[in-house]
Amino acid sequence: MGQSTLRTERLTLVPLRDEHTEAVVEVFAHKSMSTYIDIDFSDPANAREMVRRRLAYDGPARMGHWAFLDGETVVGIGHLRPSWELPGDLPEIGWYLSPFHGGRGLATEAAAAILRHGLVDLGLNSVWALVHAGNEPSLKLAARLGFLVVGTGFHYGAEHRVHVALP
Ligand SMILES: CC(C)(COP(=O)(O)OP(=O)(O)OC[C@H]1O[C@@H](n2cnc3c(N)ncnc32)[C@H](O)[C@@H]1OP(=O)(O)O)[C@@H](O)C(=O)NCCC(=O)NCCS
Repeated sequence: MGQSTLRTERLTLVPLRDEHTEAVVEVFAHKSMSTYIDIDFSDPANAREMVRRRLAYDGPARMGHWAFLDGETVVGIGHLRPSWELPGDLPEIGWYLSPFHGGRGLATEAAAAILRHGLVDLGLNSVWALVHAGNEPSLKLAARLGFLVVGTGFHYGAEHRVHVALP
């Protein structure tokens, strides 16, 4: 079985496809999207390369990358994939929402759906989230989803808080 489409109250999370590329470039066009990342994704070339890497995902078939659709509009992306920062291929989640759609709980709603998919549909024993220690909006999102903080570590080139969610 392949990667599922996930539905929430306001969003549809569809497996990320080539045709989403330019819309994702738009999502990352605002500088604030790259504040806690060491690459400037407001540069369309960097954003396109990032999407290309995501499209090249070849991990477990039921995990991967999703585009968050509000109607026809791509408002963000998220993922659930084996971590390359944590040992043992632990499943790692990530979330990104355009600032033009922020502050309404859409990222929380989308991330909750991916988390539920991992823990319930896929029966994973844990889902991990690495959040930059200064990224308040993302730390708050992880807390809203019930993630436990288990420490900090140097990941993605900076200090990140290490979170886990259990079934
Ligand atoms: C991290 C990120 C997704 C958070 O975006 P966000 O807009 O704060 O998240 P949400 O869409 O869930 O909205 C949450 C806000 O809406 C409010 N809200 C309103 N209605 C809500 C609802 N129904 N449910 C939950 N929150 C709601 C919350 O109170 C919160 O506001 P607050 O931060 O003032 O308390 C976004 O900042 C982002 O994409 N940043 C850049 C990329 C990034 O850093 N990604 C994380 C990598 S680890």
